[in-house]
Amino acid sequence: MSSTTSIHGMWSSRLAFILAATGSAVGLGNVWRFPYTAGEYGGGAFVLVYLACVAAIGLPIMMAEVMIGRRGRQSPINTMRALARDEGVSPLWQLLGWMGILAGFLILSFYSVIAGWTLAYVVRAGAGTFSGADAAAAEALFSALVADPERLLAWHTIFMVMTVLVVARGVASGLERAVRWLMPALFVLLALMVFYAAQAGDFAAGLEYMFYPDFAELGAHPGEAVLSAMGQAFFSLSLGMGAIMIYGSYLNSRASIGQNAIIIAGMDTLVALLAGMAIFPIVLANGLEPGSGPGLIFQTLPIAFGQMPGGALFGTVFFVLLVFAAWTSAISLLEPMVAWLVENRGFSRPRAAALGGVVVWLLGIACLLSLNVWSDITVFGKGFLDLFDYVTANVLLPLGGVFIAIFAGWIMRRASSEDELGLRGSSLAFRAWWVLVRFVAPACVVLVFLHAIGLI
Ligand code: PFF
Repeated sequence: MSSTTSIHGMWSSRLAFILAATGSAVGLGNVWRFPYTAGEYGGGAFVLVYLACVAAIGLPIMMAEVMIGRRGRQSPINTMRALARDEGVSPLWQLLGWMGILAGFLILSFYSVIAGWTLAYVVRAGAGTFSGADAAAAEALFSALVADPERLLAWHTIFMVMTVLVVARGVASGLERAVRWLMPALFVLLALMVFYAAQAGDFAAGLEYMFYPDFAELGAHPGEAVLSAMGQAFFSLSLGMGAIMIYGSYLNSRASIGQNAIIIAGMDTLVALLAGMAIFPIVLANGLEPGSGPGLIFQTLPIAFGQMPGGALFGTVFFVLLVFAAWTSAISLLEPMVAWLVENRGFSRPRAAALGGVVVWLLGIACLLSLNVWSDITVFGKGFLDLFDYVTANVLLPLGGVFIAIFAGWIMRRASSEDELGLRGSSLAFRAWWVLVRFVAPACVVLVFLHAIGLI
């Protein structure tokens, strides 16, 4: 359809797209959120459900999202409007884009606060604060940070400024270069951490915890655990809000979408599993509680860095890389709304990025205050940070994903999808995707929703 390029720029190569999309997918979701959520639901069974969700729901929806983005070549809102017009269906499909913008605002607001913790830990690691730390000391350090709204605000502000600066310049330029060396470096460091955990932690117990599925561990409400595993898959793969869609819109028309999606999802999953394998052996060896919540890695890793030789340097590099990983994800969270402001409101990129950044920054203040001075303000029993995290990952992203799957599987002409994916309709790959995106992915999400609210 319309054009073969986007006004916001194009990736210089297929590799650039893979790097940027992997940069979006790999972030705090893998290293911070995956271990603590798996820990909350007892490990193995959760991990198994998570992996099933990545394969059966995440992968086909990722292909659909890239495909829709590349066909529309605009911000998710305008892409959905244009494709809906092409297919002769209601313009209301653009609501999908709006829901994505809302999800992006909410996610980035708490994401930036957690990225702020990571920044704070760069300084702590560099200053040797973790030296000799035991579980109690690591816990005390973490509690002191979370209880201090001014420090949290300073770090949150710094991270938002970093994010706005890159988005203001345009994502296609800086991102490729940053991710090219960052991803391999993070990967190597995580592998070394797993190696350390195998020596110093209780590796056998850690592996059993993560990979031996005991379905009783899902707790009294397995529907809730399954919903969280599915939400984690959407969150970690950056799906359901238009981030991958807009990155797809900067992809040239020849690249194979299926192969790219498999590589991106594969790397994302590998990083999450490595993070788990680095953390749980240390958690279990030190008598920490795997289900202790969002502070898990911040209370666990300092013990490791405090005891290993060269831990100050190693810890600093590790948290720096984690900041970078968070940064490349945050950029993708801001990009869809910025592209829309540029397209529809005639904003310059810097102004659009600044405006989006300020809104997110304000919401982020509510999140960081919910950890301390506003801790008694709750909605459905959750403070703002927990609430935004829960509602986006477990409700908004999967809901967005269902609509993306329905649009790709039921609304777009089959011939358009074949053409865009570059697959012959009779090929096994196309037919597998077709069944997954039409039936399996939407049905699974809806069933998981219904199960979680107790209707089935
Ligand atoms: N996938 C990112 C992570 O795992 O840290 C977070 C994220 C980025 C979620 C972009 C959603 C999104 F659209």
